[in-house]
Amino acid sequence: MLMVFLHPAHAQRTEKAEMKKVRLTFTLDKDGAPFYEVAFNGKPVLLSSRLGFVLSGDSVFYKGWQWKGMERRSVDTVWQPVWGETKEIRDHYEQLIVHLEKGISAGGGGAAAMESLPGRRLDIVFRVFEDGVGFRYVFPRQPGLNYFVVSDELTEFHLAGDHKTFWIPGDYDTNEYPYTTSKLSEIDNREMVEKSTDIAVRVAPDPYAVQTPLMMKSAEGLYINIHEAALVNYPAMQLHVDRGSFTLTSRLVPDAVGNKAYLHAPFSTPWRTIIISDKAADVLASKMILNLNEPSKIGNTGWIHPMKFVGVWWEMQTGKSTWSYSDFPDSAGPGGGLIPNGRHGANTANVKRYIDFAAKNHIGGVLVEGWNTGWEDWFGNWKENVFDFVTPYPDFNTREITDYAHSKGVQMIMHNETSGSATNYERQMDTAFRYMNRWGYTSVKTGYVGRIIPRGEFHDGQWMVNHYVRVAEKAAWYHVMLDAHEPVRPTGLQRTYPNWLACEAARGNEYNAFSNGNAPEHETILPFTRLMGGPMDYTPGIFRLKGYSGVEGRQVHTTLAKQLALYVTMYSPLQMAADLPENYESHADAFQFIKDVPVDWDDTRVLEAEPGDYITIARKEKGNNSWYLGAITDEHSRTTKLSLGFLDKGRRYQAIIYKDAGNAHWKNNPEAYMIEKRMVDSNSVLSIQLAEGGGMAVSIREL
Ligand code: NOJ
Ligand code: CA
Repeated sequence: MLMVFLHPAHAQRTEKAEMKKVRLTFTLDKDGAPFYEVAFNGKPVLLSSRLGFVLSGDSVFYKGWQWKGMERRSVDTVWQPVWGETKEIRDHYEQLIVHLEKGISAGGGGAAAMESLPGRRLDIVFRVFEDGVGFRYVFPRQPGLNYFVVSDELTEFHLAGDHKTFWIPGDYDTNEYPYTTSKLSEIDNREMVEKSTDIAVRVAPDPYAVQTPLMMKSAEGLYINIHEAALVNYPAMQLHVDRGSFTLTSRLVPDAVGNKAYLHAPFSTPWRTIIISDKAADVLASKMILNLNEPSKIGNTGWIHPMKFVGVWWEMQTGKSTWSYSDFPDSAGPGGGLIPNGRHGANTANVKRYIDFAAKNHIGGVLVEGWNTGWEDWFGNWKENVFDFVTPYPDFNTREITDYAHSKGVQMIMHNETSGSATNYERQMDTAFRYMNRWGYTSVKTGYVGRIIPRGEFHDGQWMVNHYVRVAEKAAWYHVMLDAHEPVRPTGLQRTYPNWLACEAARGNEYNAFSNGNAPEHETILPFTRLMGGPMDYTPGIFRLKGYSGVEGRQVHTTLAKQLALYVTMYSPLQMAADLPENYESHADAFQFIKDVPVDWDDTRVLEAEPGDYITIARKEKGNNSWYLGAITDEHSRTTKLSLGFLDKGRRYQAIIYKDAGNAHWKNNPEAYMIEKRMVDSNSVLSIQLAEGGGMAVSIREL
């Protein structure tokens, strides 16, 4: 629906809320339509922007409101996440709740006047933080608004300028796109969508729609990030860009028939978030999205353990082995009629090799994909019952493998690829999780490759949003940790479900295996976009950067040292050492960093950052005094000096520096690295020299 709105000339009511440099102004205009503005340091960031909805059967729900009252509250508390980038998180905000109501006659002309509407109530909750604003709509319990359907959410973000923007197309089914950097006025996703032959686009998106988290930078050097928090029982919000006025309008992902959300009052929408700072590092350090999520719903979290893992995985991604046991579909029932192809990765002997490697190197887990029947024709066939999640292939001996893993102190990670058949998974979920409990699997990686069948929903619509949460809840019930691939992008729900350790939901390292790959700048953008909502299973740690694929020009677009640095810059409590054991064994000195680097932290300092260019982060290991530093750059080399002033004064540390060799380059010489050891303290200065597409990783351990 296209609507043209005039911004409020005369206000019925205006209220402000402020926290340090951030100021929010709420206005109810003379037509009873709600608007808001946001300023930073006295300068406008969002100009007057509309709030509200069109409901099915109530096309004037967005106006005709009257001021009913407000509530204000100041909050300043501290909480401890179960795991995370810091030990403690401060939640500090000014809250303004506005109460709106309207009577029987809604006003307005045309069709609206024909509708006879009962009284309505709507609340809008604003929280103003030091680093931005979050707000949500609340539909209180009220007569006449019991079950209702949202046709459109009208929320606008009217930016004050034609900002530089890091964006991916507003595709309803996937976020696995490379980022484009352009001005808001230049956004047009058609070429990107057409070019993306490695992504199954089902519905060509609105050419001017983008996904969140959306990262922007103004000409004056202000960093602005728009996303959402606590996405539950509601579709994901994408943004339509009006290229002339720099106005972004909420565009909710529809269901199969075009409706946006089926709601039941009382209902609170997800929070819309606007993070603002004049320092890019502050955006990466922001805890606003976590703060806007509910505390853990899991009482006893003692069974949740962040960990590193290896997997029977990259060998399939690079074509060395296959997920499937056979090259032909089964003709005689599960497993029975399959003719082996001799290249099946998930065979007992090979899995034991990975378990040995994990045990020897103190890597916590082993993921095995392709262990269960169904992979012969799992892809693109739109069949509902491809997988049952409990039937292994004949060469995968579950008892032998799980006994072996337990004897070596290694945890097995289950893989449940649903091939988009989410209803099939829901039917079988208890059986699947009981199977994990029976055999001692403590984590599961889920997957949703392909179309959502049989309902025709989109990956990012309300029904699937609820599905992902149901899986997290079910996993928690069975004490299983979750890593979801191809879900809707995260919105901080890991606070509420701390067993939901990671998601993919962006273009991961795997694209370097089967496509033209990820540009060297990709990893300098992801923390400002996708990772704003939560940890990513990016699968870092590829050491053999070229020559693993027969396809000319196919390679990883980083140096080896940058792959190490990603363990620090790309935060995840579930972090893969993605390459093959043999590639680690041939670089045992560099692999030492992956063995040492933790996955849970007491403190994090974002030392330098610029989206699209570089990121340097130092983190302090949970429960001890060791620090780990990661520095990465885009396609440009980079030299800088860094003070280690974050170290404790008066203590001495040994730094092991893993860096690009002088002649390293992501394209022609990616595997050239050097390792240096030196003593450092809080007065030391570290020289950082990064090759084109390079990086540096440092472990700094107290003596
Ligand atoms: C896509 C996932 O991202 C990848 O990690 C997985 O191996 C395949 N789907 C198969 O499930
Ligand atoms: Ca994927």
